[in-house]
Amino acid sequence: MQTLETPRLLLRPYTSEDAGFVLDLYSRLEVQRYIGTTPKLMQDRSEALALIEAWARVDDGTCGIWAVQDKKGANLAGTLLLKSIPASGPQRAPSGDTEIGWHFHPDSWGRGYASEAGAVVLAHAFDAGLAQVVAVTNPANTASMRVCTRIGMQHRGSTDRYYNTDCELFTADNPA
Ligand SMILES: CC(C)(COP(=O)(O)OP(=O)(O)OC[C@H]1O[C@@H](n2cnc3c(N)ncnc32)[C@H](O)[C@@H]1OP(=O)(O)O)[C@@H](O)C(=O)NCCC(=O)NCCS
Repeated sequence: MQTLETPRLLLRPYTSEDAGFVLDLYSRLEVQRYIGTTPKLMQDRSEALALIEAWARVDDGTCGIWAVQDKKGANLAGTLLLKSIPASGPQRAPSGDTEIGWHFHPDSWGRGYASEAGAVVLAHAFDAGLAQVVAVTNPANTASMRVCTRIGMQHRGSTDRYYNTDCELFTADNPA
């Protein structure tokens, strides 16, 4: 998986050594509140390790799940995701679209890290040749919607096309 860099951040693959951070991040209600239809808090380290393994399988040279690391302190700040988004329906089959997403630790909120990391992953997606990237958010998740617009995505209203739920839809088209 391609390592990506911004002025303040390093985006690199997660490893099993990051399990403590992953557990801390995904066991928090304030992080999980708007992820998925029913928030599910991570319970233990084995779940974190399983997730890190599953994330490694997303890597196809374009898509991937990145650990976002603060270059200065070397501490982890969050997760950046570029992956296939499931269509609504009983099978949750791949929709054919690619989504971008961000999950950051509350200690790293309010610094512009999600927008900085989101922008470099969006640029990577377009460099890799994707025609369009989508993002979906819970309608109440104003912080995430602000990240979408800050990185240049367009708000397309609400949709029930993905994840068997109503989401706010944002899209960005490859400028090339
Ligand atoms: C969504 C989420 C990533 C947004 O985090 P965030 O910290 O608000 O977003 P950013 O990292 O882009 O930071 C932007 C904020 O930092 C401030 N900021 C401080 N320094 C900054 C800098 N150098 N550059 C840009 N913004 C800066 C901005 O003013 C902005 O504040 P505002 O939103 O009040 O205007 C975060 O709330 C989160 O992880 N939530 C839980 C998971 C989640 O819901 N994910 C989305 C699922 S769809």
